[in-house]
Amino acid sequence: MSDKPTESDPSQANARQRHYVRRRGRMTQGQARALEECKHRALLLGEAAPEVVLAQPPHWSEVFATHLANNPAPTAGAQHLRIGVEIGFGMGQALIQWGQQQADMALVGIEVYQPGIGSLLLQAQQEDLLDRLFVLEGDARTTLDLAFAPGSLSEVRIFFPDPWHKARHNKRRLVQREFLELVVNRLAPGGVLRMATDWEDYASWMLAQAEATPGLHNVAGPGEFAPRFAERNVTRFEARGHRLGHGVWDLHYTTSAA
Ligand SMILES: C[S@@+](CC[C@H](N)C(=O)[O-])C[C@H]1O[C@@H](n2cnc3c(N)ncnc32)[C@H](O)[C@@H]1O
Repeated sequence: MSDKPTESDPSQANARQRHYVRRRGRMTQGQARALEECKHRALLLGEAAPEVVLAQPPHWSEVFATHLANNPAPTAGAQHLRIGVEIGFGMGQALIQWGQQQADMALVGIEVYQPGIGSLLLQAQQEDLLDRLFVLEGDARTTLDLAFAPGSLSEVRIFFPDPWHKARHNKRRLVQREFLELVVNRLAPGGVLRMATDWEDYASWMLAQAEATPGLHNVAGPGEFAPRFAERNVTRFEARGHRLGHGVWDLHYTTSAA
């Protein structure tokens, strides 16, 4: 993953066809080893068609069976698998921190950048979080659509998505109303959506898209940004934003309760 905005890279020719760029990057030995040792905790799509790999979506209660066994439901028969998803987790710091902070949640990361996936799995090994963590490699739209049933997620986080800052590229932005409608559909009633960006223009765009999405309620009040999410550590991209003198804008929504 490069720190440079990728849409200006002319070598990424097929970016014209896609909404994301599969970045090249070298894996460290540790990341490569973690990827190999922990591949049972990931679904790596590579160049395979997601519709084929995810034709049978994961059975999440089996994927997180050990976590469930260690966290019995407080009330017999209660639904106790709470799944949180981070989309575009980069090198994985925020997702690992989430796992450390919320031991009752099972977490799924979606990412297209393999060194980032290796980095996340390496940290998960070191922090003993593998039982509660799973990775889906692939485009967020397709994987979210194929891998999760409606109403099955407790929380979705999207931190510092690629800004596609040129106006003619805005349509490639991940956060679009159509995508947010999918997120709302996959969230359970009373579910949470958190987003953040360091691009002012993308911040206003996200706010407008979210405000226009039926079923999303702005916790900060209509049309308002949220206070900085105190539980998010400063990721590499947030640090870059600060270095470049950008602000950081947080958004916090919930879905209608049942
Ligand atoms: C700017 S980085 C931010 C990474 C991380 N959230 C952070 O704050 O450090 C955006 C990340 O989203 C990933 N990404 C971009 N488009 C994606 C998509 N359509 N599906 C899944 N991941 C995507 C990129 O590979 C990259 O790691």
